[in-house]
Amino acid sequence: MQPDPIGQERGYRILRHVADGGMGSVFEAELLGAEGFRKTVAVKTILARYAAHPEFVRLFIGEAKLVADLVHENIVQVYDLGRESERYYIVMEFVRGLNLEVFVRSHLDRGDPLPIELGAFIASRVCRGLDYAHQRRDPDGVPLGIVHRDISPKNVLLNFEGVVKITDFGIAKAREVMEQDEELLVGRIEYMAPEQATRRPTDARSDVYALGVLAHELLTGRLPDRGRWSLERLHRLGAAYPKPMAETRPDVPDDLAAIVERALQPDPGDRFQSAADMGYALEYHLYHKGYGPTNVTLRDYLREHFPDPAARVAELQAAPSAVADTVIGHRADTLFGHSLEDEAAD
Ligand SMILES: Nc1ncnc2c1ncn2[C@@H]1O[C@H](COP(=O)(O)OP(=O)(O)OP(=O)(O)O)[C@@H](O)[C@H]1O
Ligand SMILES: [Mg+2]
Repeated sequence: MQPDPIGQERGYRILRHVADGGMGSVFEAELLGAEGFRKTVAVKTILARYAAHPEFVRLFIGEAKLVADLVHENIVQVYDLGRESERYYIVMEFVRGLNLEVFVRSHLDRGDPLPIELGAFIASRVCRGLDYAHQRRDPDGVPLGIVHRDISPKNVLLNFEGVVKITDFGIAKAREVMEQDEELLVGRIEYMAPEQATRRPTDARSDVYALGVLAHELLTGRLPDRGRWSLERLHRLGAAYPKPMAETRPDVPDDLAAIVERALQPDPGDRFQSAADMGYALEYHLYHKGYGPTNVTLRDYLREHFPDPAARVAELQAAPSAVADTVIGHRADTLFGHSLEDEAAD
């Protein structure tokens, strides 16, 4: 006989709205346990129109189960998948920090050069997280075939301790069925490997390509240069980007530029064959001469360059948003009746 489940009274109290994304909103929340126990978590709600799409729900739940047990320093850990009034929400590790889009943009806004060695370091940690997920197998040793499919600056977070974390594992595949309309892919398509953009089969090497685009942006502040070509034409012809990274930023060391270019090859066979191989190349670049950047270097850099986000977080916590104190979860008051997104938009 199955033992009765425990923990049914658990709920999540929403503290503040963090951001809106393409599929819903992200909130900082607290997991409420017994005797006043609390744990800070992030709650990501999925828009109603997604939950109303059966094929989306099937893929979304399937992928959520696949990635549920990914536990790695460089991956945002998922704690729970909740459902409330036909709506879904994901509960995950809360990352106090910033995403790579903010990281890059703030350098550009201030006219500061992007830190080359730290950029390579960040990319190397993304490789570690990716490779861990790519290598996962089921209990019988059969590879799970996990591919992220949406590596982009908003899905890579830096916490203020200097740890790099990939988020949204297992979401892109379901999302793509909802977004067959190419317009919705704008923005993210820039990071998509040609095989993914043209809806051919993807594998770990598709994530390597996306990371190549991301690394290019981290090092130069710009996407790879396509000259006068459209991405669609580039992909259709299987052509590489016309201008090497060195032309945009000549102070990037040659070996590092070569790593990024290899990741960006249109034919998956010409790229690094695994995130581990790319990670090794990056770490060789970083460490073969001796001391290179670590989490501590990144932490110190963030402290120096981003004192503001920390202050902003504290400020927002002092002034709770309209959704503060709402509790979601089993046997708790329904929140989605008047949706989180509506509240957040107020
Ligand atoms: N676990 C988390 N902890 C803290 N902040 C997070 C967390 N997950 C996401 N965020 C923040 O919330 C923002 C919105 O995330 P979300 O995934 O909904 O959208 P996005 O990544 O911006 O775009 P997309 O819809 O394409 O994924 C992120 O950019 C990130 O800054
Ligand atoms: Mg995201």
